[in-house]
Order: sequence, then C-alpha cells, then structure tokens
Amino acid sequence: MKSLRDFNLKGKKVLIRVDFNVPMENGKITDDTRIIETIPTINYVVQSFGKVILCSHLGRPKGKRVPEYSLKPVYEYLKKVLKVPVKFLEDITSEETDRVLEDLKEGEVLLLENIRFYEGETKNDLEFAKVLAKFADIFINDAFSVSHRTHASVVGVAQFVSEKGIGFQMEKELKYLSKIVGKPERPFYAIVGGSKVSTKIGVLRNLLNKVDKLIIGGIMANTFLAAKGYSLGDSLFEHDYIDVAKQIMKEAKEQEVKIYLPVDVVVERNEEIKEISLREIAKEDKIFDIGSETVKLFSQALEGAKTLVWNGPLGYFEKAPFYKGTVAIARKIAVLPSTTIAGGGDTILAIKLAGVETSFSYISTAGGAFLEYLQGKELPGLKVLKI
Ligand code: 3PG
Repeated sequence: MKSLRDFNLKGKKVLIRVDFNVPMENGKITDDTRIIETIPTINYVVQSFGKVILCSHLGRPKGKRVPEYSLKPVYEYLKKVLKVPVKFLEDITSEETDRVLEDLKEGEVLLLENIRFYEGETKNDLEFAKVLAKFADIFINDAFSVSHRTHASVVGVAQFVSEKGIGFQMEKELKYLSKIVGKPERPFYAIVGGSKVSTKIGVLRNLLNKVDKLIIGGIMANTFLAAKGYSLGDSLFEHDYIDVAKQIMKEAKEQEVKIYLPVDVVVERNEEIKEISLREIAKEDKIFDIGSETVKLFSQALEGAKTLVWNGPLGYFEKAPFYKGTVAIARKIAVLPSTTIAGGGDTILAIKLAGVETSFSYISTAGGAFLEYLQGKELPGLKVLKI
C-alpha cells in the first residue's frame, strides 16, 4: 500500500476519507479525538500544496438529509483549528460542484457534507462512486475505523482513482494493530469483555490461536460461567451460546491457552449492592461487575505480558458503582511495562473514566473495524488499496 508520502501532491485534488463520526450533543462535538487524529494528514497535504477534500459520514442517516447528522458542526470546528481557508459543500451532486472544485486553491480545505445523506454510499453504488471520484486526483483512506464497510467512499471510489494510498492516522493504526494480528511479542494476553459472545465468537477464536492467556469479563463472562454450571440468578447471559462457550473452553485447553473467568461478582439484590462469591449468587441477583477477588486474580494474571490487547468493559461501567472492576483493570494495564493496545467505543470510554488514556501504548479509534481486524479479516477498505 502506498503512503501519503509517496505522492507528488502539488496542485492535486486529494480526496481524504476521514472518520468524523464523532459524538455530538445539541450540535456540539463532545469528543474530538477522531478529528484531532487526522490533522497531521490534512496539514501534510496543505503544506505540500495539495487541495484537500475531506469526506466522512456521521451517524446512520440511511440515505436521507437528516439535519442532526449534518457535518456543519465539524466544519465550524475545522475553521477554528486549521490555519487555512476551509470551505463546505452541501451537495456533491449539485451543479455548483464543478465551480467549487475549480475555485479550490492549493493548500485549501473543502469538507463535503455527510456522505451517508446519499443512498449510493452504503450500497457501494458505482455510479455514485464515480461522482465522488471527480473529487480525487489522489484518493487517501485515513479512516481505519470505517474500512470494514464496503461503501462507495471507502471501496467504490478507489476503483475509479489510479493514485491511492493511506494517510498517517491509518498508518498509525496499522503499525500498532499489526503487532497483534501479526507476530506479537510473547507472552501475549488478551482481555475481552462486553456483552455478547455471539458478536465476538470470531474474535475469541482467532485470539485463541495467538494468545497465551485469555481473560474474559462483562456479560460475556456470564455465558462462560453458565457453561461451567454456575447458577447466575437473574443475570443477563446468552442461553443460546452456552455450547459455543463450552467449545471455546475446550479449544483453549487443547491449545494450552489459559482462560480466566470471574471468581466473585458484584450483584444487585433487591436494590442492595453486594459483593459475593459465585456460589452465593441468589435467584434474584443481577451481576453487574467483577468482584475484588477477581480484580486481584486478573491483575496478577496480567503480570509478565509483553503484549496485551483489550476490548470490552468488564462490567456495567456506565453506572456507579459498577465501574469499579473495569476501572481497576484499566489502571492495572496502564502501569504494565508491556505494549498495551485497546480499542472499541466502550473500552475507550472506560479508559477515559479511569483517567489513564495517556498510559496505553495505543488506543485505536475504531470500534467495529477493530473487532473485524482482530478476527483476522482483511478489511475491504484496505484490500482495494493494494496495488
Ligand atoms: C464507527 O464509529 O465505528 C465508524 O465510524 C463506523 O460507523 P458505522 O458503524 O456506522 O459504519
């Protein structure tokens, strides 16, 4: 794959697929991480006298112009942080497009309105991709986090542009994430949490082939505990995936991968919060967090890791006091002298809650793409850039 550095950008229209799918409240950006991460790419094109055209989605407006999903707040934001003229194009299919493109000068930036306002985007419609290709002498994908989508601005457009490659943010993601899927430095441990075994079977299976230890938390751990025969009271778990959990534990044994599950839990019982052992779980209990013995067990298990990957919270961290287990483990990871990599929306929020985001080796900005990459899948947005 080519990098931005491989092109002569002067005077060229450089279409950059970015991921400005940022959280917003009442039209205000509440977390600008994804935008900040792409600034080096934008500045490089500006300083190389290229013409920057930024294309992103926001939310899932399903091919309709939904005002709350407009990228205008991002446009206002970019005008403040970039030191060059920034323009905005409401409709890439409108007649003014040609004029806007002609008027765009070297070193200027043009932000396109939410690309998912067009039906052709998520359908990877090739006619629509051709419209987008008009904006590109060079196509740069700087959005790892959307590269698992076969959409026109990720895959289709690249088929109509001969000069294409990746930006600096994508390079950074691949540099760290390839440490996990390639040949990680051993011992290599993984922590997988979150709610569903069903959405992470592929990740768990692929990780089994690579890790030395697998630590499981969250509602997902409940399914494994149920598979081991524990009664979990009124707790959530996936009944239909008990056999899958059993199978995964069997495969782990065969591959000599040690699986760690909670040994105690924090439950809500008739509006009271209790920390109890697995045997003490009563009919009315709902498990919401790992207990302090489990925090100790997991923390000890993490010692000695050379590489560690984490995806998925270990409890209902959004609600006090059930964040404690997840926060304790995040802080433990933060002080490990290992290569520590985390990803996934909830995981990032939990790391921020723990206040340790600067102590990880790398935190991916990706959610779904991170999971697909961990499954060992080739992402379509990357495949199309291979020449
Ligand atoms: C994300 O937030 O994971 C990416 O922006 C992709 O968004 P999507 O899941 O709506 O395709």
